[in-house]
Amino acid sequence: MRTETAPTIRLKDYTPPAYLVDSVHLTFALHPTATRVTARLAMRVNPAAAPGQDLALDGEAMELISAAIDGVKVSPNVTKTGLVLPAAELPGDSFEWVCETEISPETNTALEGLYMSKGMYCTQCEAEGFRKITYFPDRPDVMSVYTVRIEGEQPVLLSNGNPTASGPGWAEWHDPHPKPSYLFALVAGDLVSHNDSFTTRSGRDVALKIFVRPGDEGRCAYAMDALKRSMKWDEDVYRLEYDLDLFMIVAVDDFNMGAMENKGLNIFNSKYVLASPETATDLDYELIEGIIAHEYFHNWTGNRITCRDWFQLCLKEGLTVYRDQQFSADQRSAPVQRIGNVAALRARQFREDAGPLAHPVRPEEYIEINNFYTATVYEKGAEVIGMLHSLIGDEAYHRGMDRYFEVHDNQALTIEDWIANFEAVTNRDLSQFARWYAQAGTPRVTVEEAWDGATLKLTFRQSTPPTPGQPEKSPLVLPLAIGVLWPDGSEAMETRLLEISEAEQTVELELNDRPVNVTGAPIPSINRGFSAPIILEQTVGTERHAFLLAHDTDPFNRWESGRAYLRDMLVRMVQDADLAPDAALLDGLLAVLDDTALDPAFKALALGFPSIDDIFLDLRKTGARPDPQVISDARTRLDRALAAHVPGLADRLGQLAVPGPYTPDAAAAGKRALSGRLLGLVSRLEPDAATARATFAAADNMTQSMQALEILIREGQAKDALASFHQRWQGNAGVIDKWFSAQARATPAKQAVEAVRALTAHPDFDYKTPNRFRALIGGFAAGNVTGFHRADGEGYRLLADWVVTLDPINPQTAARMAGLFESWRQYDEPRQALMLAQLQRIADLPGLSKDTGEIVSRILDAPAA
Ligand code: TRP
Ligand code: ZN
Repeated sequence: MRTETAPTIRLKDYTPPAYLVDSVHLTFALHPTATRVTARLAMRVNPAAAPGQDLALDGEAMELISAAIDGVKVSPNVTKTGLVLPAAELPGDSFEWVCETEISPETNTALEGLYMSKGMYCTQCEAEGFRKITYFPDRPDVMSVYTVRIEGEQPVLLSNGNPTASGPGWAEWHDPHPKPSYLFALVAGDLVSHNDSFTTRSGRDVALKIFVRPGDEGRCAYAMDALKRSMKWDEDVYRLEYDLDLFMIVAVDDFNMGAMENKGLNIFNSKYVLASPETATDLDYELIEGIIAHEYFHNWTGNRITCRDWFQLCLKEGLTVYRDQQFSADQRSAPVQRIGNVAALRARQFREDAGPLAHPVRPEEYIEINNFYTATVYEKGAEVIGMLHSLIGDEAYHRGMDRYFEVHDNQALTIEDWIANFEAVTNRDLSQFARWYAQAGTPRVTVEEAWDGATLKLTFRQSTPPTPGQPEKSPLVLPLAIGVLWPDGSEAMETRLLEISEAEQTVELELNDRPVNVTGAPIPSINRGFSAPIILEQTVGTERHAFLLAHDTDPFNRWESGRAYLRDMLVRMVQDADLAPDAALLDGLLAVLDDTALDPAFKALALGFPSIDDIFLDLRKTGARPDPQVISDARTRLDRALAAHVPGLADRLGQLAVPGPYTPDAAAAGKRALSGRLLGLVSRLEPDAATARATFAAADNMTQSMQALEILIREGQAKDALASFHQRWQGNAGVIDKWFSAQARATPAKQAVEAVRALTAHPDFDYKTPNRFRALIGGFAAGNVTGFHRADGEGYRLLADWVVTLDPINPQTAARMAGLFESWRQYDEPRQALMLAQLQRIADLPGLSKDTGEIVSRILDAPAA
């Protein structure tokens, strides 16, 4: 396997850069297969580094045409990964390096460095793409001021910062802010812009431009609105202002990730920019808002203050995710957002933490850094900031953030610097808290309750299971928000934040007077708002769940209790195929639906069922290795029972219709989410899916079209709908992605592999476009659990076939897809053997990329579970 030859990079081996680059002058003569790049770097010895070092520059996948130092031609020793010039050949402590390289953007299918997407040039330099453009110390602790000249026939020629001069066939840009190479960007193409402006709170006018391909300019308004709201929010909440006269966003169709925060020139996956009611779902709008905010917020958390090295990735990503989640919570319903974030954390990060790919929020080693843009670094990284915020309180948090921006502007930092900053403002020892960055795995917490008629004692016990490379774990600081209720639903204790830091710790709670006529013990509501990202191992019984579902004053825990009851019920229904659901559960869900005080968006979440994966994991705790199809069947039975239990379903559905033209706001979206859930229930009782068919025919927005289409696919009644949908949206890449992904996710297991295989032969299936690949192959392997885990192993073979095909073209995306095998050790022995065979087949592939090689070898190392 290739991996053996790729070196492991370790945090403990960090050394400062030998040479710094004060300024960079780049000239690009664009050509699809022979772009010439001239780089002029003002370099000097780094006073903080060991003296007398050779000049080593990173460089890959390009041809060195010429190189000179202070005007004198040099012939460095060039390898596949860079070049070295011996220290003896350098003229002194500072000098000018000039080199010319040639690159081929058109054949760059990895989408890293300078590449072409539908005739337009664009770049992606994070994490290590700049080294595919020119030779450079391509590491984030080298920050430089960039001046760029682009020569090309494209009407629009863009780079970071401010435009300084242009003429026919050329343009020049200058970015006054020093930045690491990963934030460099260039775009050239036939683009049009949607323009607006924003006046900062100090009164500076900022021109805002969103560049898209001609024809798409009518679908930028929502992204622009989200951008302006983000700029205002960052001023209001963090007192952070934008720092250039121009802010640009470019939408590109071929992109490995969501978006990229290049200074002044964000580049976006077009999926997260373009929206209209006919083409975008409510979820698309929500994601656009969140991602626009995320990339904009990076301007301070990432760009002005950056990472010393890639091990510190969470310094910018965890913090920026936390900030975008705060923003979305402010713009929409905070509890609904929190529930959504926690559900995603559990589905992706807890899963990662429980398997062979588990790693700390700040990893200590990697082979390919692209493999560490993970749910752990991003989402758990955000949870850690949220815990810090609750532990020190709002005032200290903001004092700390103010100090961070003041003291560390233009620096490249470590997590130690981040922690020290908050120790400085709080005078608190945060060393135990800092374990959250170093220790992988999800803590398990049990709670023992003791009520003696006067005081409530809670004993917490925490432990974290071993993860790869970390057999022993230490106790963490857990900020646990707790409330207590009396059995009549009245409040026995308002929410309080407990700080649990020992492996075992008992807390005595003071309660309000018990109301007269109320008997029985008080009921604690633990980890309100999911204040700590832990697994609470409660064995409190379904009565407690039903009580908190009905009475908890914390909306998150109200949802959580319903969830716990649903999980318990589904586990029992898997264990006993004849078991009918508890009336208490169905009544509880009906009461949620009838509660006029609750937001429809919340109701939709509370009525949604735990995923097959959630139930699978609950059953694993009993030692079982269930067939996912059996879990799916139990979910269907529960769905039918709930449908039969809700009186007047059709009327309720009718009442949820949102009058007037579509608007993407949270209130309207919440109604549509609930109506989608009810449509699903109605369809369980209709053999011909008549309501879904009618909804599909009448829908004037993509949200409802997709809700109905997925039900029709699930029910095997989608033939005509799929044909007319394709016919109508032919040529609209984002919508055709949905067409592929709906079929991949919703086709029943029996036909799923065959259906997906057939779709891979469809003329619209272009596997080199990551969005299309993810829609079909990712939609199937991640979204169609029963199809993927089919007993005949054809689902596994399908994924492996496409990982193998994509790997030489786009290793970054192939590796991410290979990661979908991460839970293989959890399944029954025949399935394990089938997955193992496919993993080995990938691992043995000659020339396998180091990206996929690293992922597959870590997965294969998984201990028996
Ligand atoms: N930094 C980007 C973000 O905002 C992530 C990203 C975009 C990325 N493109 C990438 C990471 C390519 C690695 C490779 O989260
Ligand atoms: Zn980010």
